[in-house]
Amino acid sequence: MEIDGKTRVCGLIGNPVEHTLSPVIHNTLAERMGHSLVYVPFPVEAGRVDQAVAGADALGILGLNVTVPYKSDVMASLKEIDALARDIGAVNTLVRTNGGYKGYNTDMEGLYRAMLSEGLTISGSEIILLGAGGAARAVAYLCAVKGAERVYMLNRTLDKAQRVAAEVNAKTGRRVIEPLAVEDHAAIPAGRYLAIQGTSVGLAPNVDEAVITDDAFYDKVHTGFDLIYSPWETKFMRLTKAHGGKAYNGLKMLLYQGVIAYELWNGVLISDEDALAAYEALRKHIGQA
Ligand code: ATR
Repeated sequence: MEIDGKTRVCGLIGNPVEHTLSPVIHNTLAERMGHSLVYVPFPVEAGRVDQAVAGADALGILGLNVTVPYKSDVMASLKEIDALARDIGAVNTLVRTNGGYKGYNTDMEGLYRAMLSEGLTISGSEIILLGAGGAARAVAYLCAVKGAERVYMLNRTLDKAQRVAAEVNAKTGRRVIEPLAVEDHAAIPAGRYLAIQGTSVGLAPNVDEAVITDDAFYDKVHTGFDLIYSPWETKFMRLTKAHGGKAYNGLKMLLYQGVIAYELWNGVLISDEDALAAYEALRKHIGQA
């Protein structure tokens, strides 16, 4: 792509940003769409998010992604926040509007589209969710909003799961999230569940760790979806497969949160074919093609 006077800039603010895969997604999409657009990571120092957002606005930067540790902090610097992002309490995408940026959360919708692309349904499903941190909280909200029948939220720290469950249940007006301590997983009724792994356990370099290693637990899992994509196959995924289940990693979630951000910035819809081209570029980039 040739950079000229009309080239638009999008980017990522966070700290650190050196290892981000987002440029692969957006630069591949721009190339396929024939858009003159470049995506650049910007490391932002602690305490300078507000300046970064104001500076981006002054420079006419079309859109920004926001990553750790600024997904909540950035909310104070925005002109407007989408209702869903406000409910989740985290913003990962900024869209430039007249007079400032509007914040969205595409992580959650990204997970939803990733699940759809794998033929997985939330509506009417019985789900086990591991974790109650920032990521798991957003997944719990997604499951509640998309009509899950029941979600057993298992966390090492029970009171955190209880707090998140109470909050999500109150916001969605349904008692769908059921909090449990990890060690009480045997209390989950017999059946076959979709299990979503939303903790940081198993993330490289701790590739031989999983929150639960009991065989009896994995006998209840028909599909395991890990939000982690590094390593490519987590211990949670290996255990799920060893018990006859299907397993997916989080790379498609990463892909689709980017695809949705790209759609918001450019007012376009990305076809499955273009999304899959970006997915292949991601896989190639991380040596999993
Ligand atoms: P994120 O934003 O990625 O969700 P987080 O908010 O720090 O990160 O949440 C991390 C999640 O991983 C939590 O559910 C945490 O459990 P606790 O609430 O009990 O801390 C879970 N987690 C992290 N390390 C863990 C471990 N060694 N065993 C079990 N759960 C762990």
